[in-house]
Amino acid sequence: MTDEFDTAALGGRFPADFTWGFAASAYQIEGATTEDGRGPSIWDTFARVPGAVVNGDTGDVACDHYHRYREDARLLAELGAKAYRFSVAWTRVIPAGTGAVNRKGLDFYDRLVDELLDNGIQPMVNLFHWDLPQALQDRGGFANPEVIGWFTDFSSAVVSKLADRVSDWMTFNEPGVFAFLAHADGIHAPGIKHWPTAMLVADNQLRSHVAAVEVIRSAVTDSRIGVAIDVNQAVPATDSEDDVRAAALWHATRDWWFLDPLFGRGYPEDGLEAHAAAGHTAGIELVGIPKGSVYLDYIGLNYYRRETVSAHSERAFDWTTDVPAGAEVTDMNWHVAPDGLTAILLELQRRYSPKEIVISENGAAYDDKVAADGSVPDADRVSYLARHVAAVADARDAGVPVTGYFTWSFMDNYEWSFGYTKRFGLIRVDFPTQRRTIKQSGHWYRDLGTAVRR
Ligand code: FCB
Repeated sequence: MTDEFDTAALGGRFPADFTWGFAASAYQIEGATTEDGRGPSIWDTFARVPGAVVNGDTGDVACDHYHRYREDARLLAELGAKAYRFSVAWTRVIPAGTGAVNRKGLDFYDRLVDELLDNGIQPMVNLFHWDLPQALQDRGGFANPEVIGWFTDFSSAVVSKLADRVSDWMTFNEPGVFAFLAHADGIHAPGIKHWPTAMLVADNQLRSHVAAVEVIRSAVTDSRIGVAIDVNQAVPATDSEDDVRAAALWHATRDWWFLDPLFGRGYPEDGLEAHAAAGHTAGIELVGIPKGSVYLDYIGLNYYRRETVSAHSERAFDWTTDVPAGAEVTDMNWHVAPDGLTAILLELQRRYSPKEIVISENGAAYDDKVAADGSVPDADRVSYLARHVAAVADARDAGVPVTGYFTWSFMDNYEWSFGYTKRFGLIRVDFPTQRRTIKQSGHWYRDLGTAVRR
């Protein structure tokens, strides 16, 4: 055992009220996609596009969490979870996207919240984790500004049901990934490759966020509202001016693109120029959100890796990101860089001085093997987690107000276009039988939380 596995020393660096949690999302775990009136989402559609997802995997069954949520809540408690971040499937609550609320769908989240609370776990409810109703995509989806009204109605339905028990809310998960990977790169649902559409999707997510904040604030006393922003660390491949500029613009066009407006500053000038120069805003008008007010109670930070950026010319977006030869990588080929997490936390603090930052996702995929005795010895994941938790402690020591850490993920699940081939869980799921086995990392994480609480 090396020091990094020592939960007492690491846990001791955190206060007793630090939130140790787990994260997951609806489409990735629930299954039961046609049950109790759920309507089709863009992921149900996209997963069936030939070649879109490895092995043609779909979320039809996933972890069958829709049926097993009671057992899953107990497992979370066994792992020492103080909080659990999950998302609500819009298609369960309003199957056609707009119009009638489906009581049975909403009741699932009602029961889930009760079950979590009964197990001593605080729910953190995320309203949107990419699974838009297909019926709304057919009307332009998030590129259509009418989505602000649609999202407000959906939010109202969920908030009015859960407001008496839930104070921790998130509106969007990784709005940048949803805008750009799904509407410019085309590798996530709905699989569109059109930059101006992606820019509108980003703009309308921000505007929908503001509308949902009003809904939540008016219904929930002492609400805490955030957005989970994916900020990985982008570093220049060399000291050349072009590489340095490209790495800075990587952040400005994707990460500060959302955070600057949410902190009441409007879109970042350098990001605007870069997107315009690349033709991304041709023929569209961005509205953004009113300047001067902060629309976040805390920053949710999803951090996984380092991106090394090489520019091919002076032109914006004429760059590629790589993993340097010999770098430590996970099963996703993501460059493991815990010091990047400390650096990003310090940078968020410098730029925005947020009241609070919560690590809303951090974790790693590894090709776990089941040992002869049935245990799952995932020392590589323990090492990844330990080093990232230590990186959070370093940032806290430097004065960054990080109040919680939610690991991705509770259990192995549907990893989007990678289907079931990438395992991020602290619990192993044997998909054919749905058997759950706590991995070494799960036991380690529970010990860490216990070490803190002592
Ligand atoms: C994040 C997503 C989450 C999961 C992890 C690995 O980008 O929010 O759903 O796929 O990556």
